[in-house]
Amino acid sequence: MSPNIISAPVRAMLVLGTRPEAIKLAPVARAMAASPLFEPIVVTTGQHREMLHQMLDLLRVEVRTELDVMRDRQDLSKLTARLVDGLGDVVREQRPDLVVVQGDTTTALTGALAAFYEHIPVAHVEAGLRTGVLDNPFPEEANRRLIGRLARWHFAPTPRAAQHLTAEGVPATQVFTTGNTVIDNLLWVLEEGTGHSLFRTELRRVLLTLHRRENQGDKMRAMGKAMRRLADRGDVEMVVPLHKSPAVRDALLPELTDHPNIRVVEPLGYLDFSATLAACDLVLTDSGGIQEEAPSLAKPALVLRTTTERPEAVEAGAAKLVGTEPEVILNAAVHLLDDAEAYERMATAGNPFGDGHATDRIVAQLAEDFGADAGTEPPSGPLIASRPDGPGSYSTA
Ligand code: UD1
Ligand code: UDP
Repeated sequence: MSPNIISAPVRAMLVLGTRPEAIKLAPVARAMAASPLFEPIVVTTGQHREMLHQMLDLLRVEVRTELDVMRDRQDLSKLTARLVDGLGDVVREQRPDLVVVQGDTTTALTGALAAFYEHIPVAHVEAGLRTGVLDNPFPEEANRRLIGRLARWHFAPTPRAAQHLTAEGVPATQVFTTGNTVIDNLLWVLEEGTGHSLFRTELRRVLLTLHRRENQGDKMRAMGKAMRRLADRGDVEMVVPLHKSPAVRDALLPELTDHPNIRVVEPLGYLDFSATLAACDLVLTDSGGIQEEAPSLAKPALVLRTTTERPEAVEAGAAKLVGTEPEVILNAAVHLLDDAEAYERMATAGNPFGDGHATDRIVAQLAEDFGADAGTEPPSGPLIASRPDGPGSYSTA
């Protein structure tokens, strides 16, 4: 389709506030910005002030509107209220054709809610992940189930995620298996090739990240202690990019600082983080996104949680759900560092999260549903008219 046929591109509002949302919506924003069919309107909520800013420049995402809702250690209810209020104003002012949210954060839930209240259809990227335990992870499992009730498009990263949605009653015609956009972004970033690994030695390289709310407090402190014992082996270099959350810092800083083999650093920009991940031998994490990235780079991942909404990696053999008990974590890490065969099996298990084309599928589906499919005859008039029975309709959800 030639660009000049488009007289009114689809105005897609992408709402993002946290680091993983920026990473996973960046390829969608870039693809839409490069297409004559879409006008991306990126709104950041400020949920992760510091961790986001630098990230969006690197990822070449242009922000249209910024909210400033974050207060130190504020309750989830306060954050949620501020976000619905602020995003409601933005949606009313901009009147987009759709709102795109990603994942399961408070930003994603409130973005979907604010859009729903204004009768704007919602597209959910990374839909259908479930642990089956409503408060683990907290509050993310509840958030993603609620978004699943509100969305018009459900872009599921894997067939299993798609099945969760249809089993919950979402019409199959509204569920699309796409792969995860995190892989699209990772491949893009590695191609850019400008990141630097933080590892400095030829010792065994362990990358550690922890931040989940349900792990904070004593549990996280004990996990920190276990990680210090792992570093005590002497043949390990551990890099720990520390989340900005004060609760995470309270728990981990006392346990991990002042050790010759542990480098605690500020959160890394995505380019450096990807390079560090690519250079490591072993990943220990409670992060969702890192569970997806590690198998793509052939890095065994030990998941320091009691549940995972990403069992695909565990079933493929690329990740192990080791729980939060310090001794168990330590033993699992030692086993992988000492048993070359076990290590190799995990490293070569493969990546179940996509082929790097999730964004293409998402954008093509939206274009088609808005009558802007590059493969079909474009309408002669403006693409966007009032469409009571079109993508904006909730009647079949
Ligand atoms: C949030 C998401 C979680 C996601 C994680 C990614 C919710 C409920 N949780 O958790 O799903 O896995 O992001 O990292 O949405 N802070 C700063 N500066 C920053 C970032 C955070 O000061 O750049 C502080 C905040 O002020 C807050 C605390 O860290 O006090 C926690 O941030 P919050 O976004 O509420 O939760 P996360 O644990 O980051
Ligand atoms: N990440 C990053 N810098 C860091 C740590 C993580 O860029 O210092 C990236 C990582 O590559 C992944 C994403 O942040 O794509 C994961 O974010 P996080 O662990 O905060 O959230 P989750 O995925 O658990 O929601």
